[in-house]
Amino acid sequence: MRISKPLGNLKREVRSRSKLPGFLVLLIASLAAIQFSIHPAATQQPVTVKVFMNAPETVLWQPFIKEFEAKNPDINLEAVAGPTDTNLIEDLYTSAFLLGDSPYDLVYMDIVWVPKFAAAGWLRPLSERVTEAELSDFLAGDLNGGRYRGELYRIPTRSDAGMLYYRKDLLKQAGYPPPETFAELIKISQDLQQQGLADWGYLWQGKQYEGLPAMFTEILAGFGGFWVDPQTLEVGLDQPQAVQAVEFLRSTIENRLSPPGVTTYAEEETRRLFQNGKAVFLRNWPYVYSLASETTIAGKYAIKPMVHASGQRSGACQGGWGLGIAKSSKHPEAAWRVIEFFSSAETQKKYSLANGYAPSRKSLYNDPELVAKYNHFPQLLEVIENSVLRPPIAQYAQASDILQRYLSAALTARMTPQQAMKAAANETRLLLPKRDEG
Ligand code: GLC
Repeated sequence: MRISKPLGNLKREVRSRSKLPGFLVLLIASLAAIQFSIHPAATQQPVTVKVFMNAPETVLWQPFIKEFEAKNPDINLEAVAGPTDTNLIEDLYTSAFLLGDSPYDLVYMDIVWVPKFAAAGWLRPLSERVTEAELSDFLAGDLNGGRYRGELYRIPTRSDAGMLYYRKDLLKQAGYPPPETFAELIKISQDLQQQGLADWGYLWQGKQYEGLPAMFTEILAGFGGFWVDPQTLEVGLDQPQAVQAVEFLRSTIENRLSPPGVTTYAEEETRRLFQNGKAVFLRNWPYVYSLASETTIAGKYAIKPMVHASGQRSGACQGGWGLGIAKSSKHPEAAWRVIEFFSSAETQKKYSLANGYAPSRKSLYNDPELVAKYNHFPQLLEVIENSVLRPPIAQYAQASDILQRYLSAALTARMTPQQAMKAAANETRLLLPKRDEG
């Protein structure tokens, strides 16, 4: 594009080359002057910042991207659609960062990726950009999940915690209160199945992917066990409580409380079965609540904290998503504006009203408009505030992969729960540094 001729020269050229009347010369010169003076602003391209995320959520983001761009005309925000399973998105981010020159400015992160991404140096620290007072409305679990070795790398934009959905109509019909323990859940399931009130008792995620350890974290906590202690790096997978947790899950398949296909189900498969009215109980995340309210089971279900062994407490797996800035981003300031927008109370409220996702800000759980639409929100807050983190360690992805493989082997009866958990514990110990190695 030809642009740079000093204005004075241009005027002279126009005058000398043409025999135009003076007023026309003046007009042309003034038009040229206007064009030159507005030129830089008019042609300045907005910067494009990119984020990679699961495809269904890119659709939910679209109206918010439009709103953001309208408020920030100097920024284009592009949400690139990826696979649904969190670990597949993580793999793709990982390859992009390892190969260098990643196209992503923002990292939309599952809470369990933070230690690995931070330890690898792929994220920019955020604590300088925000005060503790500004952070005080965020749920502690979600916020802490964004920290690694004292630095903040992720601002939570939505929370998540696993819980038990149950068919309150069926329980009422059969005269049962909601179950508190594993034994009660088994008894109610079997009874309702025998009465022909439901095909299945209990649905959970048994596919070999990140949803499996997330679900298992809850069963493990409910039996009083643990996976990896993040402080001591002690591994608890071969302790009796962990073996009992696997035995419980396996027994739900053997006793036909759960369909045989449960070992291949992720969240969505179990949600569909539940909302088709096929089951009494479902373990899932908060997003199911509003989707199921548009189905034939509307008004017939409720939520409660996960069941546990008698004498133990409920464990909800702390999940959730948030935004960080890629170290390699050339537009960190624009990326930060995206984070401010998506983590703001205003956007989170609208996002939650639109799709029922759990906000990461405490105040929103008692927001009158949100509670009017989702009357379970105060209860949901209680579940989330009592949730358990999967081990926040830099080696999490590998530790999860080990657990996924051995759980899957035990659940599909290729190994006994004891053998599988012993092997999983041993492999995990080999993976983790000895404590004095740091
Ligand atoms: C949800 C949770 C996330 C978890 C995933 C497992 O997206 O928010 O933390 O890892 O489910 O499928």
